[in-house]
Amino acid sequence: MTVPRIPSLRIGDLEAKVPVIQGGMGVGVSLSNLSSAVANAGGIGVIATPGIGQFEPDWDTAPIEANRRALRKEILKAKAQSQTGGLIGVNVMMALTDFNGLIQCSVDAGANVVLLGAGLPTSLPDSLPLDSLGQIKTKFIPIVSSARAADLVFKTWKKRYNHVPDAVVVEGPLAGGHLGFKREQIFDPDFALEKLLPPVVEAVKAYEDHFSKQIPVIAAGGVYTGRDIYDMMQLGASGVQMGTQFVTTHECDAALPFKQAYLDCEKEDIIIINSPVGLPGRAIRGSFLDRVLSGVKEKFKCNWKCLRSCDFKKVPYCIAQALTNAKRGLLDEGFSFAGANAYRADKIISVQELIDKLVEEYVAAAKAAV
Ligand SMILES: Cc1cc2nc3c(=O)[nH]c(=O)nc-3n(C[C@H](O)[C@H](O)[C@H](O)COP(=O)(O)O)c2cc1C
Repeated sequence: MTVPRIPSLRIGDLEAKVPVIQGGMGVGVSLSNLSSAVANAGGIGVIATPGIGQFEPDWDTAPIEANRRALRKEILKAKAQSQTGGLIGVNVMMALTDFNGLIQCSVDAGANVVLLGAGLPTSLPDSLPLDSLGQIKTKFIPIVSSARAADLVFKTWKKRYNHVPDAVVVEGPLAGGHLGFKREQIFDPDFALEKLLPPVVEAVKAYEDHFSKQIPVIAAGGVYTGRDIYDMMQLGASGVQMGTQFVTTHECDAALPFKQAYLDCEKEDIIIINSPVGLPGRAIRGSFLDRVLSGVKEKFKCNWKCLRSCDFKKVPYCIAQALTNAKRGLLDEGFSFAGANAYRADKIISVQELIDKLVEEYVAAAKAAV
């Protein structure tokens, strides 16, 4: 009898030994340190772009250039820190004003994959060779919340570019950060990831046939154990994207108090907020959010409209500033985004320990099913 093993994740000519993509986590929570550790452990490590230029000297005066420069540096650093064959990705939120520049920068700096989230990526930057997208080494992976959205993106790319994405992430409502759902859908069992995933697998099949290529579907949002990974694979996923689990690792780029907030929180502290991005978001309640929820308007200065849809004159706080403060450990001046499972964390471990545990749990689930 063959011993069950965790399958690798293939995206075109790329192969991750472990089928786990570490979700991009802004602001500054997943940079080169976390992403290279994940790449070294066999997964795909992802650098998040929002606010990445905050430590550049010209952040206040030239934020677009600062972001692009910092992104380039982080990609090169992550690649230098990861072994040969280690895969490094970038997460670009479509809600960002400079999403086109950040996509181009990721391709130029040699990111292996670019994940396109927080908004539907129906178009790509004009600066890319749009009539020969298949020639670009970087793989493009939209993040969607439904089969309808996946089909819309694939259909549009097929028509515009005669090319379709290389993989797709379907993110359910248990995820951390911004959610692609209406508030009332978040706790509706009809929108559970288990329900959303099979129709996405079905929707991409027609494109796999048309373009004669495999298009892996990756499940995200509330995937927490190796058993969960196994269950998602049984439903047709080729891999998973996980965020929350990677926060409580030594290598995560956030300061210790950010990680401690995960260790200290209870299930009921994890709440849904209305983000200035215009989407609901999942976060850990603390003194800052309590102030905002009680109607206090925080003072802030907007140097540039980093988010396309942010009405900075009306919003009660600057989300980029609040998340930056939290990343730095100043939790009274900001808050941590977190997935619905964040309360389950009880200690900080290394990325390698986490991956080993996930693989072990996956194999145990596969053995039990034989
Ligand atoms: C702290 C934090 C920050 C996040 N920031 C982003 C982001 O900048 N862009 C994005 O597309 N997703 C973001 N996410 C979502 C993750 O990339 C991931 O897909 C999601 O958290 C998966 O669900 P899980 O946390 O239950 O594993 C964030 C999640 C967390 C917990």
